Amino acid sequence: MVVTGAGHGIGRAIATRLAAEGARVVVNDLDAEAAERVAAEIGGHALPGDAATEDGLATLIDSARGHLGEIDIWFANAGIDRGKGLAATEADWTASLEVNVLAHVRAARLLLPGWVERGAGRFVVTASAAGLLTMLGSPTYSVSKHAAVAFAEWLSATYRHRGVIVQVVCPRG
Ligand SMILES: NC(=O)c1ccc[n+]([C@@H]2O[C@H](COP(=O)([O-])OP(=O)(O)OC[C@H]3O[C@@H](n4cnc5c(N)ncnc54)[C@H](O)[C@@H]3O)[C@@H](O)[C@H]2O)c1
Repeated sequence: MVVTGAGHGIGRAIATRLAAEGARVVVNDLDAEAAERVAAEIGGHALPGDAATEDGLATLIDSARGHLGEIDIWFANAGIDRGKGLAATEADWTASLEVNVLAHVRAARLLLPGWVERGAGRFVVTASAAGLLTMLGSPTYSVSKHAAVAFAEWLSATYRHRGVIVQVVCPRG
């Protein structure tokens, strides 16, 4: 399995717990040092890099397949909170949508064809309670997390009869 943004915080905890349960875990993070550190801690394999861009995801998925064989679980956990209120800039909005939403779309585009062919695969998204309710002060975060939940719902409704399981986790800070 692959956990994105697993160098710190919730992603690190997910990677640690699943490795303890016996999963073979690929630890991804933009922060290469943190990814290496967590991989060493849990007996996983570090693949640092950007898990949001098309190129970054293509490289990550290729390398993870090289290490694991097929990727059976994709844990799309990396997320950011940029900008405050209506002062959030165009760059804040773009970055939030790239990392919190389009990363999931791009990963699904690369993973789903193989999963449909073999009739199995699991796509898990760390969204947020802000994706169901809102986060006061952060429209970029609230809107992008709502979109993450909406995309996961669409993915589940479209592929659940073809062996693909989609789950969304909505933690509250
Ligand atoms: N902490 C909370 O209270 C809370 C609540 C609800 C949801 N969440 C969500 O949980 C997820 C993890 O949050 P966290 O609190 O552990 O955050 P965190 O900042 O501690 O960890 C996020 C990790 O993702 C990495 N990252 C960011 N962009 C990346 C990218 N493009 N490619 C690869 N790695 C990238 C960061 O380097 C960091 O290590 C996020 O999606 C966040 O929105 C967190």
